[in-house]
Amino acid sequence: MRILETVESFRAARKELTGKVGFVPTMGALHRGHLELIKKSVELCDTTVVSIFVNPTQFRAGEDFEKYPRTLEDDLKLCEENGVDIVFVPKKTEIYPNEKIRIGFTISEELSGILCGASRPGHFEGVVQIVSVLFNIVAPVVAIFGEKDYQQLAIIREMVAALNYGVEIVGIPTVREATGLALSSRNRYLSIKEKELAANILKVMDGVKVKAEEARFDRRALPVEFIEKETASKLEFLIPGSKVDYVEIRNTNDLTKGRFLARDSRIFVALFVGETRLIDNLYIGA
Ligand code: PAF
Repeated sequence: MRILETVESFRAARKELTGKVGFVPTMGALHRGHLELIKKSVELCDTTVVSIFVNPTQFRAGEDFEKYPRTLEDDLKLCEENGVDIVFVPKKTEIYPNEKIRIGFTISEELSGILCGASRPGHFEGVVQIVSVLFNIVAPVVAIFGEKDYQQLAIIREMVAALNYGVEIVGIPTVREATGLALSSRNRYLSIKEKELAANILKVMDGVKVKAEEARFDRRALPVEFIEKETASKLEFLIPGSKVDYVEIRNTNDLTKGRFLARDSRIFVALFVGETRLIDNLYIGA
């Protein structure tokens, strides 16, 4: 496994690569969720590249950029053990030689103005900035992203289609703890108790799924807004000390929203457990 820190050294290595190059962009603090992305790349591609870069432009002022877990030694070990060929670990100056220049794809209002785009203005602009810079450096054939960041995946698909990147984007289902808690680098901020309580997120989303299935069976229309409010209250009740940012039910394909639960719905949740903001989502059908 090669560890490369500069764009120049990466480009030189890239020139030598033949066959399909798979890419897993990460911010490090790797967990089993990342390992599933890596496994998929290794399965689909001849070479797997992982990048580790905590991208400052996707954090807003006051968010956790400074304290975001940085565990490079462990990450490199995991990459090596899981068949990664090249790890790209650039410094900020390699990625953003001129901090003042803000480049990036203009995300459609339909995707940028909802869910985390509404709660964290500028976040996805930072994500598309870094992903496009990394795509230009790595020049992958396939890039793998997790469905836990479902909106991010939709935005990256939009960018790749609009800018004709010619990169196949593969989404991988969310990996969970045995308790149901979605794996996330930010779970490291949670206390044992908070982790235990946060497992209720999946239980509550599952409850909505069951309700949706029953309503479909009985041919009953379920008002989306009512379900969202009820779900938010349930979450805050079951996870004392939590504060819901949003609970929304949207179409799984284009993230549009209807008044009544319709086919192909997906529930999206963002909430603070203590200081930690967690997100999750689940396909609920109906
Ligand atoms: O999903 C993430 O970890 C980040 O948003 C990404 C895609 C690596 C860009 O920094």
